[in-house]
Amino acid sequence: MNNDELLKQAEVVLAGNDRGDFTVPAEGYSHQWLWDSCFIAIGRRHGDTARAQKEILSLLRGQWANGMLPNIIFSDKDEHRRDRNLWRSWLSPFAPDDVATSGITQPPMLAEAVVRIGEKLSSPERRTWYQTVFPALLAYHQWLYAERDPHQEGLVLQIHPWETGLDNTPPWIRELHEHQLPSWIGLVGKTHLDKIINHFRRDIHYKVPGERLSTIDGLAFYSMQRRLRRKSYDIDKILSHSLLVIEDLSFNSIFIRANQQLRSIAKAIGKPLPPELDERMTKTEAALDQLWDAYSAQYYSRNFVTHKLIKEPSIAALLPLYAGSITKERAEQLVTMLRDENQFGSAYPVPSVPLNSAWFKPHGYWQGPTWLNTNWLIIDGLKRYGYTAEADTLTQTTLEMVAASGCYEYFSPTDATPAGAPNFSWTAALMIDLLQAVPGQATPSTASQLEKHSVSQH
Ligand code: GLC
Repeated sequence: MNNDELLKQAEVVLAGNDRGDFTVPAEGYSHQWLWDSCFIAIGRRHGDTARAQKEILSLLRGQWANGMLPNIIFSDKDEHRRDRNLWRSWLSPFAPDDVATSGITQPPMLAEAVVRIGEKLSSPERRTWYQTVFPALLAYHQWLYAERDPHQEGLVLQIHPWETGLDNTPPWIRELHEHQLPSWIGLVGKTHLDKIINHFRRDIHYKVPGERLSTIDGLAFYSMQRRLRRKSYDIDKILSHSLLVIEDLSFNSIFIRANQQLRSIAKAIGKPLPPELDERMTKTEAALDQLWDAYSAQYYSRNFVTHKLIKEPSIAALLPLYAGSITKERAEQLVTMLRDENQFGSAYPVPSVPLNSAWFKPHGYWQGPTWLNTNWLIIDGLKRYGYTAEADTLTQTTLEMVAASGCYEYFSPTDATPAGAPNFSWTAALMIDLLQAVPGQATPSTASQLEKHSVSQH
């Protein structure tokens, strides 16, 4: 398949998942997801910039009066009442009146998507675009500091694994098992009721048993979600009772980059950031250092309550490259992990947990597979640190996986076999974006041709 055919395939996927003002993550989904839409807009800006802008504006419909951007905006169709009811966003005084949403957020990719769209516009258009979205973006970042950094330490906390977008990532699941699993869930496990419950689960259309969340973990996720709902999503009430609160490494790395992008947007339209926000943004970059463990020479997430690092390696370990705020020496240490065949240097990188982790399963959702979005973040980070050859190679293997099997949700990092949902929107969109940097062929048989081309900087 040549690049034109790949592009066409991606466009067909996105057209199929297009619901007018927004794009669903894949067939079978009905709602809009926050970071999915940001990645989708990053791809769509190439073929149809106006449509990419619409994708972002559509996300802003869901913004709460306190600035929060929810991870899901629900369809208002009658048949989705049950999903809306699960969250009951209307219990919070801050939720919008005319649209039902979740009550938690997702990694702050919005500023990046806004800037990437801006790159495709003329300067006057870009100014207008930035002016349109700036107030919402500013309110979102201010909310993240106000509610999620209560002690003003620089790092922001997350209150549910869904907020990381890496649902069953080992650091969270380990903490969940240690601190949170309610006793009735333990009982379900012991009595093997989970096999029966599995029959009634709704997220199984694309599931091969054992690939997604275990039933026990799924139940724990919903139990945590209900606890947030009972507190009407009031952060003070939530924090006074919860043990599973984590300063997540991937979220904070993305936040650091988002702050840099917010600064550049503000500068471009001549709107100085409030000095307090500016100071806190600077503090976040320095605070990332607190997540570094000198002994194992890597970054980890931290439990907000115990203040202990959660020393469980995952894809998050590499995302400080994307943050761009770490020293060159540290970046080099991360690139060493990326090259290491026992860690992240698999045949089709980058696995969502290192190959030598006890959690590793090639098709285990966020416990092994390679995903396009994390590859995109790492490629971007590698380029900014000057690792052009590594970025090129990773772009090439990423495109090869999709060329061989189609726009699947995720792939085995060892043999590239696809899994999860077919025709997954962010896979298609990010493939479009990666293809812009690599003219030529992207099939395995012609892979060597790709090496002749250099990847241009964004
Ligand atoms: C899953 C993924 C999350 C994504 C959502 C919709 O929950 O873990 O990252 O946003 O599905 O695609």
